[in-house]
Amino acid sequence: MAEKSRSRGSCCGWFLAFLLLAIVVGAGVYMLVKKFGHHHHHKNAKDEDYASALKLSMQFFDIQKSGRLVDNKISWRGNSALKDGSQAKLDLSKGMYDAGDHMKFGFPMAFTATVLSWAILEYGNNMDKVGQLQPAKESLKWITDYLINAHPSENVLYVQVGDPDADHSCWERPEDMTEARPLTQVNTSSPGTDVAAETAAAMASASLVFKKTDSTYSSTLLKHAKELFNFAEKYRGSYSKSVPEVQTYYNSTGYGDELLWAASWLYHATNDDSYLQYVTGQKGEDYAQWGTPTWFSWDNKLAGTQVLLSRLSFFKANDISDSHGSGLQSYRKTAEAVMCGLLPDSPTATKSRTDKGLIWVSEWNSLQQPVASAFLATLYSDYMITSKTHKLNCDSDSFTPEDLRDFAKSQANYVLGDNPMHMSYLVGYGDKFPQFVHHRGASIPAAEKPSCKDGFKWLESSDPNPNEATGALVGGPFLNETFIDSRNNSMQAEPSAYNTALAVGLFSSLVTTSSAVQSFT
Ligand SMILES: *[C@@H]1O[C@H](CO)[C@@H](O)[C@H](O)[C@H]1NC(C)=O
Ligand SMILES: *[C@@H]1O[C@H](CO)[C@@H](O)[C@H](O)[C@H]1NC(C)=O
Ligand SMILES: *[C@@H]1O[C@H](CO)[C@@H](O)[C@H](O)[C@H]1NC(C)=O
Ligand SMILES: *[C@@H]1O[C@H](CO)[C@@H](O)[C@H](O)[C@H]1NC(C)=O
Repeated sequence: MAEKSRSRGSCCGWFLAFLLLAIVVGAGVYMLVKKFGHHHHHKNAKDEDYASALKLSMQFFDIQKSGRLVDNKISWRGNSALKDGSQAKLDLSKGMYDAGDHMKFGFPMAFTATVLSWAILEYGNNMDKVGQLQPAKESLKWITDYLINAHPSENVLYVQVGDPDADHSCWERPEDMTEARPLTQVNTSSPGTDVAAETAAAMASASLVFKKTDSTYSSTLLKHAKELFNFAEKYRGSYSKSVPEVQTYYNSTGYGDELLWAASWLYHATNDDSYLQYVTGQKGEDYAQWGTPTWFSWDNKLAGTQVLLSRLSFFKANDISDSHGSGLQSYRKTAEAVMCGLLPDSPTATKSRTDKGLIWVSEWNSLQQPVASAFLATLYSDYMITSKTHKLNCDSDSFTPEDLRDFAKSQANYVLGDNPMHMSYLVGYGDKFPQFVHHRGASIPAAEKPSCKDGFKWLESSDPNPNEATGALVGGPFLNETFIDSRNNSMQAEPSAYNTALAVGLFSSLVTTSSAVQSFT
């Protein structure tokens, strides 16, 4: 999903002369515009209410929780999947359902945990100000409890609960599921470097989250993270090759990005130089695609890794051995290229946008890239502000941290209603939001208990969902900025837990105007 690289034109004498003229005329026009009071940045009339958006988003995690619910706040949810894992004498009842269905897909679920950890580590103070830090940590632990149990021995990781074909041939509430819930594992003969490394990243980042408040739990997570990284590294292979069935839903297009991402998180969690050596040395050369912007997603962690490692060059450059310096610089330069691609006025701005400026890359779940990109942009902006770095150079132009934050807000505001449909894509926010979210639990009245096939009448019903999937961030608009609010429209109207983790990251960064990031430890 790399962006197209740009080639620069050559230039010659008359062109330079023309350029000079253009600059003079341009400067004149700029002075005039300034004099008559037009603001260079056409900002939105108002910023949306990011604290409300954050609180709503956090509720969607409660809706997705599997297992025996503790302090259940969702009236139409109850216990479900209590026997998940029992055939292997494991308790895999916790964790979160992936989306509108009831699969537990380990690859995106681990990514959800890593992103949620990152959001808590950077913006836990902001979350705390609006009463969302505890809920965030509880939701994170709901996933990491599951991941701990899914890793019963060093080189075995359960990566899926449920059979997607059986699951998708039913339309029922999770509380009423009766179909078999088979388990899928990766191991030494059928390795899964991508999924094991992502799970290592989730556990390493979560170990930092719980370090102060629950050191025993934090150590347990770190032990699993180290083992999983070793398993991922030693037994190489994509889980998509070992278990080809996973390709239909969460196909992994490579594992180099997850290895770098996991090692980066392990470095933060341990300060062990060997992990930094791993990412800045040969493995960086092999996998980091230095210089090339990519889209951050459940499949591709490169842009996230570049931003996370930039954190070190912004804040820790003096503590780090010079031998890592040039590798770290390469990550930072690539993070800058990502940022320059996102800024709409940059000479290297990506063309992957709607007319109104929403980053738009894929028809399925189109909001994932703009929300992920905006989260990375606020992080980078805040790293710049905290380290008193005032300028970001994009070819011949330079930009400020405020420009990055304005970009991030533009994406957040679009999601929340500043768009041609005049609707919020976050369920529960504003007065117009999707009513037909593709979500089984939300679509079936809690008093009805249809089993499997009987439930399809609720999918087909023309009535809005009886239960609000509060905080769901749906897939989102087409490139032409339209949206069809229909329950069978899973391309646009289905939410996912990983979208919500990215949204939590973005909204928590925007809750306050102060932009200083906190230290991880
Ligand atoms: C290893 O994983 C593969 C793929 O999931 C599975 O078919 C196989 O049975 C597993 N091996 C053992 C010893 O369980
Ligand atoms: C999964 O990804 C691999 C590697 O990029 C690719 O070769 C394969 O065709 C993909 N499978 C599907 C079903 O898209
Ligand atoms: C918008 O795009 C979608 C998907 O490409 C298409 O089905 C729809 O007809 C378009 N709507 C308009 C109003 O152009
Ligand atoms: C989905 O529902 C809409 C309206 O309810 C209908 O027009 C459309 O044909 C359905 N599409 C599919 C793929 O079932």
